[in-house]
Amino acid sequence: MKILAIETSCDDTCIAVAQCQGSNFELLSNIVSSQIEVHKEFGGVYPSLARREHQKNLTTVLEQALKKAKLLKKEKSKSFRIQEILSREEILSKLLDSFLKNYKKPDIDLIAVTKGPGLDPCLWTGVNFAKALSFAWNLPIIGINHIEAHILASFLEKTGSNNKLSIINQSKIFPAISLIVSGGHTQIILMKKFGNYEIVGETRDDAAGEAFDKIARILGLGYPGGPAIQKEAEKICRNIEMSKYRVKLPRPMLYTKDYDFSFSGLKTAVLYDAKKRKKQTQSYISAMAKEAQQAIIDILIKKTIKAAKDYKVKTIILGGGVSANKELQKQFKEKIKKENLDFEFQIPKIKFCGDNAAMIAITAYLKKNLKPVKINTLAAEPNIRL
Ligand code: KG4
Ligand code: ZN
Repeated sequence: MKILAIETSCDDTCIAVAQCQGSNFELLSNIVSSQIEVHKEFGGVYPSLARREHQKNLTTVLEQALKKAKLLKKEKSKSFRIQEILSREEILSKLLDSFLKNYKKPDIDLIAVTKGPGLDPCLWTGVNFAKALSFAWNLPIIGINHIEAHILASFLEKTGSNNKLSIINQSKIFPAISLIVSGGHTQIILMKKFGNYEIVGETRDDAAGEAFDKIARILGLGYPGGPAIQKEAEKICRNIEMSKYRVKLPRPMLYTKDYDFSFSGLKTAVLYDAKKRKKQTQSYISAMAKEAQQAIIDILIKKTIKAAKDYKVKTIILGGGVSANKELQKQFKEKIKKENLDFEFQIPKIKFCGDNAAMIAITAYLKKNLKPVKINTLAAEPNIRL
């Protein structure tokens, strides 16, 4: 069976193709078209602009994904009357119509698309695109939860060098605690098996990625903030410089008994501190970037390990854009080793930490019991919970 997976919940236009056979899952292509250049000047994602970019990009990304998967074949064909489904996606409608007229129906068996959570206009464009393909090619379609896909992204690691996933022994992995840290979410999730999730903690205000993005903006480091702060923090190698600038941020909710987070105070603390300084020197910016990154890491690690111990889990699973942070990964591993904790630690490859469609494909595959839905019942659900 071949799955065509589509993800447009935020500012990346992503399409992947995967082939599954029994217990094997093989990724045939995985294309991510980033919109960073478009949103950079606004210092964050602008939903209506992101939607327009998705409309412009989706057909090209589809063509690239099918080509890489060796499923693209030229063939003139009739018009598919997708205009009604794409009545609100004018740019996309024209581009897709021309694509469908020029290419043969590919050897795909199922379409999987992110239905939420995410930015409403962006989700709708992806969902409408998927519906149009499902209609034109007469293929079953399913909607996938973006957070669940971030959780399952690290299972792509089990595919080894030949990109093939073999049988997963669930009893060795579960129960697991998953920390999902992205631009829109920060949640600790207890997972008993595939498809069984309980959110045990989450942020009460900003997400961790949002904190990185907002702090980076205050420090003039640009967008996206996470990678920019990570890079800036790497410039400080000696603690002497840290003490010289006396940058010390709070660790909100570090010792509370729950598994919740609060990151909005960090951004305010950085703002006050930066305003206090007469001049923000380069070294000050680096020192503050390092301290902000460390504050976020301290809180994420402490709460996740606490949840993992309390729920006596076997595995800690990371996912979401922030899980790409090198220091976060390193310090997580060090903590587990230092405390001699008996947890397996599962992180996605860097390219699967942020948004991608490979994680949508593997979610569709791992949840074999998912039933295809009728085209007209599938809708974007921007606020859907696990
Ligand atoms: O999962 P993702 O790609 O999109 C959402 O679903 O939100 O996450 C994007 C977030 C952004 O806030 C970005 O600044 C952050 O992930 N991020 C990072 C790093 N790379 C991306 N945060 C910290 N360190 C990184 N290396
Ligand atoms: Zn995401």
